[in-house]
Amino acid sequence: SKAQTIFSGIQPTGVPHLGNYLGALANWVALQKNADPQDRLIYSIVGYHAITLPQDPRRLERERMDIMASLLAIGINPERSILFHQDQVLEHVELAWILNCMTSMGKLKRVTTWKSKLAVARNDGTDKNQDDGHLSLGLFAYPVLQAADILLYKATRVPVGEDQRQHLELCRDLADVFNRTVKSPIFPVPRHIITPAKRVLSLRDPMQKMSKSAPAANSRILITDSFDEIAAKVRSAVTDSTRGITYDPISRPGVSNLVTIISGCTDESIESVVERLADKGHGELKGEVVDAVESKLGPVRREYERIKQDEGWIREVGRRGAEKARALAVETMVDVKTRLGL
Ligand code: ADP
Ligand code: NA
Repeated sequence: SKAQTIFSGIQPTGVPHLGNYLGALANWVALQKNADPQDRLIYSIVGYHAITLPQDPRRLERERMDIMASLLAIGINPERSILFHQDQVLEHVELAWILNCMTSMGKLKRVTTWKSKLAVARNDGTDKNQDDGHLSLGLFAYPVLQAADILLYKATRVPVGEDQRQHLELCRDLADVFNRTVKSPIFPVPRHIITPAKRVLSLRDPMQKMSKSAPAANSRILITDSFDEIAAKVRSAVTDSTRGITYDPISRPGVSNLVTIISGCTDESIESVVERLADKGHGELKGEVVDAVESKLGPVRREYERIKQDEGWIREVGRRGAEKARALAVETMVDVKTRLGL
């Protein structure tokens, strides 16, 4: 079959949590392992997306470094995959501008992530005028920048979570709009690869997803947590008062989440985990969770600690990744600009 270009990005939000890992990043490593040798894999740390919301510069700088080290620690191989910082390849911004000029405001206003940001702004009273007045133009145009990230490399496959599906639809639409505008099939219309993973929930509030931004630090497990940190967080996880172990995400979200975590860390099916632990107590379930998480994250943590000792090397990996990315990006932009008469 034809060679594919796979593109995916993650924001520089520091060390990822278990939800990021099982929900997205583990699949990056699996794609790298399973891709045909002629397929191209491109993984980007998207700093220009991060600044659509206010950032503390010192913290952002550290988190850029930590996410790069994390991606290397989980097994992204910079010799096989192009691994780079989006903000070191200026062509992302250049193509985003061009696509901005081909995107109607109406289309962007219908994007649900924008509508939910607007709803939050309205409900928490930060926007007294009940409109989008204080939200930035960059945040509004976020999905266009994302489309530029993908199209810049003429990507054909994009692994995204369910929550990003609509953004990819906009990207597909923009590829088509551009091709029709210049009357030439410059951009392949990319297809999504839905990540085969369950949502990991907060350990403190299993009605919410595990998230970097939740105030309770013990609601999430970071991929670099020590064994003791993992054990303490799992032991304090909210469960319920029903005896035995079943998988029932609606009425038993806490217990079901722990089953999901075991399954995600060990590749044992949910059914098999539940069958094996059916008569066990919650304490024993938590013991199994700690073992499963440690067996998955122990090697990642040790690799992270090793990698973090040489920040010069981490920067060098980024520099080389950006060079490779830029070579491809420049080629696309020459084509794009020529077609537009620029
Ligand atoms: P966060 O919500 O912690 O800020 P992001 O929104 O930056 O995480 O998500 C980065 C990636 O990780 C996305 O692909 C997203 O779908 C995935 N992801 C985030 N949280 C979870 C979770 N709790 N379970 C599964 N996947 C998740
Ligand atoms: Na988020």
